[in-house]
Amino acid sequence: MTLSFYLPKWLKYSISIAFTTFITLSGIYAQQAKSSSEINLYSSRHYDTDKRLYSDFENKTGIKIRRIEDKADALINRITAEGDNSPADILITVDAGRLWAADQLGLFQPTHSKLLNSVIPRNLRHPDGHWFGFSTRARVIFYDKKRIGDPPRSYLALADTKYKGLVCTRSSSNIYMLSLMSNIIERLGEEAAKDWAAGVWNNRARYPEGGDTDQLRGIASGQCGIAIANTYYFARALRKKVRNLSGKTNNIGIIFPNQNSTGTHINISGAGILTKSPNRANAIKFLEYLASKKAQTYFAAGNDEYPVLKGAAPNTNIVKLGAFKSDNLDLTIYGKNQALAQRLYDEVGYR
Ligand SMILES: [Fe+2]
Repeated sequence: MTLSFYLPKWLKYSISIAFTTFITLSGIYAQQAKSSSEINLYSSRHYDTDKRLYSDFENKTGIKIRRIEDKADALINRITAEGDNSPADILITVDAGRLWAADQLGLFQPTHSKLLNSVIPRNLRHPDGHWFGFSTRARVIFYDKKRIGDPPRSYLALADTKYKGLVCTRSSSNIYMLSLMSNIIERLGEEAAKDWAAGVWNNRARYPEGGDTDQLRGIASGQCGIAIANTYYFARALRKKVRNLSGKTNNIGIIFPNQNSTGTHINISGAGILTKSPNRANAIKFLEYLASKKAQTYFAAGNDEYPVLKGAAPNTNIVKLGAFKSDNLDLTIYGKNQALAQRLYDEVGYR
């Protein structure tokens, strides 16, 4: 005989309700505890492989990732507009020049992590931990192998008059072009950088149009003999179907510039913890996770980039492009020289 046998029906009913309520409430509280363990990620990335990156972190830590994905400038405006009430913990975007500009708006707070400082080379992160580079890309020279027998082997050579009417680039106001110019200012000095810009502009095959993929398409279509673009745009066309480019890459050669001098200009995909981050401890965990071997592979492969962690292998399409020496310049220079870079482009009429 069980105890319940002696209980009046109404009491049994009450106990049953109380028990059910307890179970339900436990569930709700558990849910609440779980959902307060979260981070809000504002990201300008949108790669399928990132889903694995996020779910792996969630499974490992129990910290839920909420994502807002948009263009970098839209995210920066949004964080600024949200002000003190911003739920954003982390901003992920590309180009040290852009991260620097976001930092100038006061968006980032310092992060002191022994792990991040030991994994990420010093020149690829902000000196006080406002942002960190998690993968790199190189800005290189592509050329039409059928037309150009003697391609430029340095950035400086792009300004050589023998390439008149051949060179395609995107607009000078684009952040990649500003960061490249910032590098050139640092390496060659202001005067030489201005002369360089004038020379490249005079060598243009057309007025700047489109993104990096459009510069590569320009070679494929015969409109451009030489183009400047980031490595991952070419690697992507080797890996998957890119309209008006895939299948037409056989005649496109690649030069990693400045191999006999300062090394090829590189940039980063990076992230930093935001000043108003409500989940700071979780955000640090996420950044440290991004520096782990497994995450490095996902993160870099998503956009055909190079991992920053020594020993993490880049994907095969990027390996096919070849090994190279990269410029080890401190990337904060891309921010510090940014305004001057735009002014010099403007002064020579580089649109
Ligand atoms: Fe890009």
